[in-house]
Amino acid sequence: MKLGADHVAVRVPATSGNLGPGFDALGMAYAMYDDIEVRTVASSTVQVEVHGEGAGKVATDHTHLVARALLHTLDYVGAPLAGLRMTCFNSVPHGRGLGSSAAATVAGIMAARELLAEPESMDLNTVLAIATEFEGHPDNAAPAIAGTATVAWQDERGPSAAVLEVDEDIVPTLVIPRAELLTATARAALPATVPHTDAAFNVGRAALLVEALARRPELLFDATEDKLHQPYRTAVMGESAEILGQLRASGFAAVISGAGPTVLVLSTAAQLPAMDACLTRLLGPVSGWKVKRPGIDTLGAQARRITAGHSR
Ligand code: HSE
Repeated sequence: MKLGADHVAVRVPATSGNLGPGFDALGMAYAMYDDIEVRTVASSTVQVEVHGEGAGKVATDHTHLVARALLHTLDYVGAPLAGLRMTCFNSVPHGRGLGSSAAATVAGIMAARELLAEPESMDLNTVLAIATEFEGHPDNAAPAIAGTATVAWQDERGPSAAVLEVDEDIVPTLVIPRAELLTATARAALPATVPHTDAAFNVGRAALLVEALARRPELLFDATEDKLHQPYRTAVMGESAEILGQLRASGFAAVISGAGPTVLVLSTAAQLPAMDACLTRLLGPVSGWKVKRPGIDTLGAQARRITAGHSR
């Protein structure tokens, strides 16, 4: 496959996986973005400049996650591998369960797709498949690609996703700690098997959550209960486990965002004053927490050409 551009830009949203009961399946996208600009260059080197989240911490060569995903995608479609100059303007916090690795992976794949002479020849299911190969699970990649909220599933043909309806009155609140947690650590805390009764409990709640999100926000509290992952991760969640428990004890539909440690609260706008009073009380004694309400992203990953070029 040929390249058809030499300068592209991509924007990918932050996401929460799981949303409580939908372990590795449900996800939501936020209007909080990583913006990445990519130029192909004649030399075969990769240079990455990082601003914002991850600056000074992440790799700035070909091992940078965006570059790895981009080069892997060019290789996958048989396009010529290119040298790259990339600039990343990151707003998605790292290591907080807000989908920073999915955002980087999807950004790399979408940038590679946009560099192709015929980007539409790679469908979005292929983007999801490559992202899931990197991530191991599709629950962040799917909303990062499609926006709003998604349910993703996998079979022998690979991953697929469907976009869910979300009532316009629903507001996600992100309660973000300073502490980071590796997804690998949170996944290592999970047991190999779970009781059948707990699986049945989560099936009901996950199905209910689809309805609660679409048109019955009053069901969000019941619909966000989980027995498959959050209880097993309490020991690695630090203060987030306590904040989560207190928010739920106060009647708010709080869950751990993805593998944590950010706490996500799903509510209606009318519940926000009471939630703010509760958060002020809970976060007063602990330090370094941020509360954000970025709103739901409805567009998903966006890519555009800045200049055409290349006939390789
Ligand atoms: N579903 C994943 C997990 C999300 O909970 O481990 C992590 O990105």
